[in-house]
Amino acid sequence: SAVDKGEFKHFMLKEIYEQPDVMAQVLEGRIASGHVLEQAFGVDAKRVFDQVKQVQIVACGTSYHAGMVAKYWFEELIGLPCMVEVASEFRYRSVVIREGTLLITLSQSGETADTLAALRDVKSQILASLSICNVPGSSLVRESDLCLMTNAGPEIGVASTKAFTSQLVALLLTCLVIGRRHGLSSEQEKQIVTDLQNLPTLTRAILDLDEPVKAMAEAFAEKHHALFLGRGALYPIALEGALKLKEISYIHAEGYPAGELKHGPLALVDKDMPVVTVAPNNEMLDKLKANLQEVRARGGELFVFAGCEQTLKSEEGMQVIALPACSKLMEPIVYTLPLQLLSYHVAVLKGTDVDQPRNLAKSVTVE
Ligand code: G6P
Repeated sequence: SAVDKGEFKHFMLKEIYEQPDVMAQVLEGRIASGHVLEQAFGVDAKRVFDQVKQVQIVACGTSYHAGMVAKYWFEELIGLPCMVEVASEFRYRSVVIREGTLLITLSQSGETADTLAALRDVKSQILASLSICNVPGSSLVRESDLCLMTNAGPEIGVASTKAFTSQLVALLLTCLVIGRRHGLSSEQEKQIVTDLQNLPTLTRAILDLDEPVKAMAEAFAEKHHALFLGRGALYPIALEGALKLKEISYIHAEGYPAGELKHGPLALVDKDMPVVTVAPNNEMLDKLKANLQEVRARGGELFVFAGCEQTLKSEEGMQVIALPACSKLMEPIVYTLPLQLLSYHVAVLKGTDVDQPRNLAKSVTVE
């Protein structure tokens, strides 16, 4: 076949390991002198981006989680209102579309029925549509005004991995080109582009942590439930970590914003429910540590991906894997990888069909 697993046992693992290269591919031809080329989005890009007043993102599944991360970026980095919704809800309710709305559809396949229907439904009301997509010539790409291909190469594993991280990079590129019109300085843009260009190196260093992550996975194989916590732009990453685990290992997993713990999920915490936390070294760390204390106090077992060993150390009831330092904007991308590896190794231990989990399809083209 055109695509084979090579040395890897599963497509999913191969695709996880392709991510350093994919991080470079999605930038290729899109950067000049440290700046993002807006022509990369299509001939009409300048006219459209000049008029954008807010962004509405629509997507499903893993792609929806990428959209949720982008909301943090659009609003924090460039002060542009950004709404995100799953396509199956968006298409069936009366939505209010404000003037100057750029509709961004996010999709690996470009053929997800609900996402396509959402685009068709609001086409006449929006300023323009942008498709961020991995499949050239797909329906979403053909029917959108602008497009930015994620260039991740064919993704075969049903559980999406490299498509997700490449969507995150594409969303940051989008944020940068629109941001120029909303106070983002040339210097800031250059710095972020430099960070993006460093992603192949950074993600390679994360993949070197495969052994400790695999060892961690053993604690999950016999469990029936798991909780994933994160805050800020890492909250959607917690959701994505939980989704990966449930998709391929069939362990019930829930992602939660750590600050909401006390409003419900804390009632479930005991020694049989592992709690995975993404805890980079950012301004939310102290708040997050307080949340972890709440879990510890109830006998919950913690599995933490942390920004550095100094801030969080392994101790009784808490396993910590330290990740290399990275800038705040790169955190959602970087912290995704260990969660992908974790779910992969748990699924292998459980002996599930990793690349083709039961009841799921790679692309949901009918409702
Ligand atoms: C299916 C796949 C998921 C994917 C979702 C959205 O549920 O199993 O991995 O995230 O569809 O697909 P899309 O191609 O639109 O990103």
